[in-house]
Amino acid sequence: MTIIRSVIRGCGAYLPSRVMTNEDLSKIVDTSDEWIAERTGIRERRIAADDELTSDLGLAAARQALERAEMDAQDIDLIILATSTPDQTFPATATTIQAELGIRLGAAFDMQAVCSGFIYGLATADNFLKCGQHKRALVIGAETFSRILDWEDRSTCVLFGDGAGAVVLEAQKLNGVATDRGIIASRLRSDGRYRKKLYVDGGPSSTQTVGRLRMDGREVFRHAVTNISSIIEETLELAGLSVDAVDWFVPHQANKRILDGTARKIGIDSDKIVITVDKHGNTSAASIPLALNTAVEDGRVQDGDLVLMEAMGGGFTWGAVLVRW
Ligand code: ACO
Repeated sequence: MTIIRSVIRGCGAYLPSRVMTNEDLSKIVDTSDEWIAERTGIRERRIAADDELTSDLGLAAARQALERAEMDAQDIDLIILATSTPDQTFPATATTIQAELGIRLGAAFDMQAVCSGFIYGLATADNFLKCGQHKRALVIGAETFSRILDWEDRSTCVLFGDGAGAVVLEAQKLNGVATDRGIIASRLRSDGRYRKKLYVDGGPSSTQTVGRLRMDGREVFRHAVTNISSIIEETLELAGLSVDAVDWFVPHQANKRILDGTARKIGIDSDKIVITVDKHGNTSAASIPLALNTAVEDGRVQDGDLVLMEAMGGGFTWGAVLVRW
């Protein structure tokens, strides 16, 4: 049976050049490298330059993904940008990236699911490609979270960083078997009852300001392991595969303790987990494609490998995507 699969043809990433270490942060707020590293696994993060916008970060990642996919921007007919830090309230920052790439066809829009945004973007693009509406998609996660942090709140400002990652997806007619390349299964969830646990205290309709990030860290932590574990199990079940079949876990990089807790709960071998939170901090929607790009660049992810990506974020939103590389 021939079916359409969304195959990842290439990935790319971009990190701003400015590194902010835990030591640097200890000069801004009452914190220490020991506290941050022990509670989160984070050692450093990148901070965008004043003149670098989310669209600049996303554009650089998109260009690298296109180059690696050996595709021209004109081959793309769908751009989904996952971000919670758009350049402006509107238009969608994805349209800036579309214009900068010189693309005149197809559609470009932003996806807002906070840290789960890249997973939501991948699943959405996959459905557009599978139904035949679009042929090739750029899915980008790009964030400048440094702009919405309260730099006087040590419980949140130490956790996040800036960056971008992107993949190029292409609709290909394949055989409909588990060895096919491309996205095999995806699952998305949200539960708005928890929207006040992690949010930004501003917005165009409510305060007419951008606002700052607020979080009940303990509550987020409590839900993260449970929600992530259950969505992984659901996604694997959908694909008819066991956790042992997975070659690489590329999780949202929020906190090393969440990653370790999830791995223990569902029995993931720690050698299979791609971890970049130490170097990037939590880059929200950019964290999964940044981690994916790291593992592709260093040769861990090889053709034919089964890669499981998952995330949880504000809303709460959460989801997972299983892809054959
Ligand atoms: N440096 C030093 N001390 C700090 C800092 C800091 N940066 N931040 C908080 N503290 C203090 C607190 O004030 C508190 O002091 P007190 O006992 O005197 O009141 C103490 O440390 C303990 O605070 P807790 O909030 O209970 O610390 P906890 O062990 O829960 O760790 C953390 C906090 C790291 C935020 C944790 O709750 C966590 O990781 N939560 C998950 C949040 C997360 O990852 N969010 C990302 C977005 S959501 C997602 O991506 C999944």
